[in-house]
Amino acid sequence: MDRKIMIEIKNLHKKFGDNAVLNGFSMDLYEGENVVIMGKSGSGKSVMIKCVIGLETIDSGSINVMGNDISSLTQEQWDELRTEIGFLFQGSALYDSMSVRENLEFPLRRHTKKFGVIEDTTPLVMEALENVGLAKAIDLMPNELSGGMKRRIALARTLILQPKIILYDEPTTGLDPITSKEIIMLMKSIQEKYKTSSLIITHDVDCARVTADRMILLIDGINYAEGTFNELASSKDENVQAFFK
Ligand SMILES: Nc1ncnc2c1ncn2[C@@H]1O[C@H](COP(=O)(O)OP(=O)(O)OP(=O)(O)O)[C@@H](O)[C@H]1O
Ligand SMILES: [Mg+2]
Repeated sequence: MDRKIMIEIKNLHKKFGDNAVLNGFSMDLYEGENVVIMGKSGSGKSVMIKCVIGLETIDSGSINVMGNDISSLTQEQWDELRTEIGFLFQGSALYDSMSVRENLEFPLRRHTKKFGVIEDTTPLVMEALENVGLAKAIDLMPNELSGGMKRRIALARTLILQPKIILYDEPTTGLDPITSKEIIMLMKSIQEKYKTSSLIITHDVDCARVTADRMILLIDGINYAEGTFNELASSKDENVQAFFK
């Protein structure tokens, strides 16, 4: 059976000045799949994910998201496509001057096309908060939340538009091991509950082990190695081994 491709990246090149970051990176993300991308700090993981959502332009190659060649999208088409793509930024990036409720309402008000204008946002806000186990935090301000809670609220905000694709950039960085584990379990349960397809950028071997259906190592700007966690973890290639030590 042919599986639907949600994201197809072909021969992606991107440089900043003479810093060639991506030198022909290619990958596919299939429907319902979690793909983990690992690579050293500065290897271009965040740049790659930003290219996918149009926050960075690409020099050459192609990116297709849910059947759309992103280089030919109008602003209006981007707005529509972005409602299908949740992006959990590196760090949590909540709006500090807004309460948790207001942070979660923000995407609903911004992308009115998907659900229309919603009179009462409370049920959607509560559903998203319940998914991350933080319904009780609805009226708190970000400065009243711990680091782990902030990350969960950011995840709830990513979920509120019910995206088909979620891009996670370092979802567990800066969290203690127990909180990391909670976030990892949430990511797994979201995939199962909503059948989302995700690209997960992480340094965290535990996160990769639990969440990855497939892994890709980004080395020297290309998709250097690809396989299941166990395949890569047992690779004889030194460059691959380095990630699992
Ligand atoms: N807007 C920009 N202008 C110039 N250089 C940039 C820009 N964004 C990223 N870079 C450079 O591109 C390279 C890749 O950066 P990127 O943020 O993608 O790394 P990363 O793999 O996500 O690293 P980390 O694991 O530390 O988050 C770095 O050398 C960085 O300095
Ligand atoms: Mg990064």
